[in-house]
Amino acid sequence: MSITRICCIGAGYVGGPTMAVIAKKCPHIKVTVVDLNEQRIAAWNDPDVNNIPVYEPGLSEVVAEARGRNLFFSTDVEAAIDEAQMIFISVNTPTKTYGAGKGQAADLKWIELCARQIARVAKDDKIIVEKSTLPVRTASAIRDIITHTGSGVHFQILSNPEFLAEGTAMEDLDAPDRVLIGGDSTPEGQVAVKALVEVYANWIPQERILTTNVWSSELSKLTANAFLAQRVSSINSLTELCEKTEADISEVARAIGTDSRIGPKFLKASVGFGGSCFQKDILNLVYIARSYGLQETADYWEQVIIMNDHQKKRFANQMIKNLYNTVNGKKIAFLGWAFKKDTNDTRESAAIYVADHLLYEQADISVYDPKVPERQVYADLDYLVSRSPEENKKGVKVVEDPYEACKDAHAIAVLTEWEEFKNYDWQRIYDSMLKPAKIFDGRNLLDAEKLRAIGFQVRSIGSTL
Ligand code: UDX
Ligand code: ADP
Repeated sequence: MSITRICCIGAGYVGGPTMAVIAKKCPHIKVTVVDLNEQRIAAWNDPDVNNIPVYEPGLSEVVAEARGRNLFFSTDVEAAIDEAQMIFISVNTPTKTYGAGKGQAADLKWIELCARQIARVAKDDKIIVEKSTLPVRTASAIRDIITHTGSGVHFQILSNPEFLAEGTAMEDLDAPDRVLIGGDSTPEGQVAVKALVEVYANWIPQERILTTNVWSSELSKLTANAFLAQRVSSINSLTELCEKTEADISEVARAIGTDSRIGPKFLKASVGFGGSCFQKDILNLVYIARSYGLQETADYWEQVIIMNDHQKKRFANQMIKNLYNTVNGKKIAFLGWAFKKDTNDTRESAAIYVADHLLYEQADISVYDPKVPERQVYADLDYLVSRSPEENKKGVKVVEDPYEACKDAHAIAVLTEWEEFKNYDWQRIYDSMLKPAKIFDGRNLLDAEKLRAIGFQVRSIGSTL
């Protein structure tokens, strides 16, 4: 079976870039990305490719090349399902905010809606591909729904989790460490697996395409994120000890990372990890473990989240302590709001929680981020429901110029590792601030020695002021 028509439900951070790359690499396949959100689809179709809703280095170029040729964005979900041989499900699976599993389990409402919609619309056999990160055994729920509401149409369900990291999505999709495809061991299941393998084989060497059963694939995705997050929490757990002992966390990370069994990646100390995956997936893992009665397994992974929350709170508390135990009415500049550099995504960004904590102490925060718009900053704060939207507007200003953000500030908090921060005119910033001018570098991004020479007091993560 050779695939020539693909549909992807969900035009977000995963669906958008992934489908753009498939369309680019497979000009013989028509790829249609659909979403219920009309505004989002309109933005993907904006004639000016700089206005597409996801910022990711290299993405707009690929969209410019493939859009209208074999890449299409549409709100007509049913027509796209009807036409496609293979349907990727790339919708959001946020943590449940209500009912059983509240705060931990993944909310599969949107996945279920997709499954029902596919079952209703499909008139011929389809391969359904789970792209979103899902709890292990979700495929059996999808299968249950579609086989009991369908009309004699045959479905195969594959798990093909996405391992791309935001900010490097295009490189990750172009040359992934591996592509994982899980499918049934039945002959029909294997035909479906082969069809998807052939799509990827257009640009990925066969030996990097791993095939497994569906459950291994689902669980691998969830646990890959848990392992990565655990590394960040492990190195972050040592920052506090470094601060007490004058050990230098960057040196410790370097020393640990040169052990080839450990490796250098995911050892950069920070104010805490963010992003749409790590927290959600670990909470989900904890929930699944608990639901199988595996108390110790659940507690073990939950500790990674506890460490991460501690790190964010600790950073904010250090700022307050260093600002003479009061930030009331003091202007604090935030450089960065995104959860990491090279993305406009802010989900679970450490900046949100640091801001929340400082707002309890009645600080005046001024935010600058090169890619995050003002409305997103307020949406993130309002979502926390710690205070009213009016109070958030009062406590936080969002500006489009970093120098304006820092002018008359008592302190600067670096919360995202945007490269451009390194190249600012730091003398000019120093001159415009209240003294002593303090920098709390939550990303260990800036050259502390250089800044100290100007006169700044600098506190990097894992070192004393
Ligand atoms: C992650 C996984 O890496 C990816 O494989 C998965 O598909 C989705 O989740 P992403 O959330 O885009 O990707 O970002 P990632 O680069 O993993 O970083 C997550 C968070 O950890 C960021 O806030 C980042 O700043 C932080 N981090 C990462 C550190 O603080 N230190 C590190 O050494 C690495
Ligand atoms: P991710 O980071 O996983 O890509 P996003 O939230 O960025 O998550 O994207 C998910 C997208 O899926 C959203 O744009 C949302 O509107 C869309 N979506 C959710 N449910 C459906 C559905 N049933 N049909 C079409 N689109 C959907």
